[in-house]
Order: sequence, then C-alpha cells, then structure tokens
Amino acid sequence: MTPPATGTIWAALPMPALMIGLVEGVESIADCNPAAEQFFSLSRRSVKGRALSEVLQIGVLIDKALARCRENRAPVFINDVDVSLGDRPAGLCSVQLALLGDRRDLVLMLLVPREIAGKLGKADGIRHAARSAIGMSQMLAHEIKNPLAGITGAAQLLSMGLSGEDRALTDLIVAETQRIVKLLDQVEQFGNQRPPECHAVNIHDVLERARRSAEVGFAAHMRISDSYDPSLPPVRADSDQLLQVFLNLLKNAAQVQPNGGRIRIKTFYEHSLSLRGASGQDVALPIHVEIIDDGPGIPLEIADEIFDPFVSGRENGTGLGLALVSKIIAAHDGWITVESRPGRTVFRISLPRAAEGD
Ligand SMILES: Nc1ncnc2c1ncn2[C@@H]1O[C@H](COP(=O)(O)OP(=O)(O)OP(=O)(O)O)[C@@H](O)[C@H]1O
Ligand SMILES: [Mg+2]
Repeated sequence: MTPPATGTIWAALPMPALMIGLVEGVESIADCNPAAEQFFSLSRRSVKGRALSEVLQIGVLIDKALARCRENRAPVFINDVDVSLGDRPAGLCSVQLALLGDRRDLVLMLLVPREIAGKLGKADGIRHAARSAIGMSQMLAHEIKNPLAGITGAAQLLSMGLSGEDRALTDLIVAETQRIVKLLDQVEQFGNQRPPECHAVNIHDVLERARRSAEVGFAAHMRISDSYDPSLPPVRADSDQLLQVFLNLLKNAAQVQPNGGRIRIKTFYEHSLSLRGASGQDVALPIHVEIIDDGPGIPLEIADEIFDPFVSGRENGTGLGLALVSKIIAAHDGWITVESRPGRTVFRISLPRAAEGD
C-alpha cells in the first residue's frame, strides 16, 4: 500500500483528511494531511501505518462504511458522527469517504468538523443563520398566511370581471401566492415537529402506506419494487413520522426522474450497528430500510449538505424535506446515510427494534 505522492492540494486542504488502506484486512492510515495533524494534535509520522481504530474512535461502523465505499465504488457521506481520539473527544464531524481515482485499495476520508463547517465559507454561515432563524420563520409563516389568504381571495374576485392579459396577471397573483403558502406550510411543519410517540411498529405496513400514496400520486410515473425481509421484528417508532420520512425519500427519488425510472425499497436485518442515543446509552440499530433509485445521483456541490435546511438542488425545491427526515430519524435515535453516484442513490435508514412493552 503506497500512498500517492502528497501534493499541494492535499497539504492545503483546510479540513482533516486521511488516506485509508487495507493492510492484512485491517483498515489502516496510509497518510494524513497537515489539517488532520493539527486537528488531532498528532504527527503524521506517528500515525502512518497504524490501524485506524487504534488512532481514532469513530461513532459509526466505519469499517463497514469503508467496505461499502470500495465495494460499490461510490462515495459515502455520513452526517454528524462523533469522532474522538483516545479519551479526548474531538466532536461532531461529517465524514465523507471516496475512492482515490481508480485505486480500489485507498479511500480518502474527509472529516468536516461542525465548527470548521461554519467557517468554511459564507454559504455555510448563511445556513447556520437559517437554522437559528427557523423558530422565527415559523411564527412569521403563521402570520403571513392570513393576509395571503386575503390577497388570493381578492385576486380571484378581481379575475371574474377580467379577460385576456389582465386575467393572466390576476392568475399569476393567485398562483404565486399559493406557492408562498405551500412554502410557509413546509416551514411550519418543519418547526412544529413534535417528539415522536414511539410504539412497536411493523415497518412494512408503513412502507406499504408510503408506497401506495406514492404510486397514485407523485411517483405514478415510476416503477416501484420491493425486497422485504418478512421476518423483521417490529421497530420502535412513531408510525406517522416514519411515513413522512419514507414519503419524502420516495418523493425525492421520483422528482429527480421526471421521465420515469425505478425505485427499490429494501429491508433487512443486520445487528452490528449501534449508536450513542440521546440518553447517552448505546442503542442497537439492527433494522435497515433502503430506498434505492437509478436516477442521476445527488449533485456533488450539495452532497454533504443535503440534510441541512434550505439546501436544494431543484428549481422550486424548498430544501426542507431531508432536513425534516434527518430531524425525525435523530429523534428516533436512528441513523441515516446516503450513498450516491450517477445511476444509483441509496438512502439507508437504520432503526432500533421495539422492546417488550413498547
Ligand atoms: N434520490 C435523490 N437523487 C438525487 N438527488 C437527490 C435525491 N434526494 C435528494 N436529492 C437532492 O437533495 C436536495 C435536497 O432534498 P430535500 O428533500 O431536502 O429538498 P427538496 O426536495 O429540494 O425540497 P423539498 O423536499 O423541501 O420540497 C434535492 O433538491 C436534490 O437535489
Ligand atoms: Mg424533497
């Protein structure tokens, strides 16, 4: 495993980056950049060649994520992961894994610490502000909707006596105000999310409900198939909120392929993933749902931010769908990851199983 010559880009990268390779089946550090040395207060010499797990504790099954990245030859993005070094917590990072060119053995691992994310550029600052403004937007949304209803009503009344160009103008007022109302509804819905009321839920029932409404509505142009593991135990979840999650994911998959395509819904059991829950206890997340589409993939320039509010790659997109999805999944102590390349995008949700008495 020889790392490629480390060039100036590598040295100048503002975020910690590691090159990871397999040495006798163990994920090992082939190299790290100066930002990583500084971030973890480690010298490059002292970490080169060491097992990744010896150096860093990463709050997800990073080996699995690395293997998936290699196997599928597709980048993997993981949001809000706890990364620590020995007993020194380094904090929350988003982790991005990508194969280095055509080399199957080396994976580039970028860690974007939450604090750095805020400093990287103006856009991030704006998004941070957007997040804190959400509470206020919610109040405003509520207040603005009343006068908007008045405006729509007045424009509709006016339009009755009009024709031709004038009528087109009042129609425009009505259409645009309705668009604003829709946007405000989404902002309100995002802010109003109540904590989940969790019970034992059959995940396939929820998926089938989502699938049916997708098939008769926004995804009528898509072919949806499933591959369910019928022996899955119930999950601990709020079924209405889960329905919102799946509807949002299916909708996104349908919207990126307006001329039709395929969506596959897959469920399976794998017991090795566990995460630190809100209570500080480790929670096992053995039940996995994947929504897979064969669309164009997530635009690269927004790939690591799609779970932030108001990040959208679509014209007329609000960018609140995935922010809501990630908020709901986090409130369930669950986990969401995405893997995307042209022709294949996989959103994977991992959830805890219901305990006795749920
Ligand atoms: N399956 C997918 N394939 C490709 N790109 C996707 C997929 N899902 C999401 N995206 C990208 O992520 C962006 C953010 O998605 P999100 O659902 O948060 O917002 P939106 O769909 O743009 O707006 P909203 O859901 O609020 O109506 C999308 O605009 C799209 O560019
Ligand atoms: Mg959406």
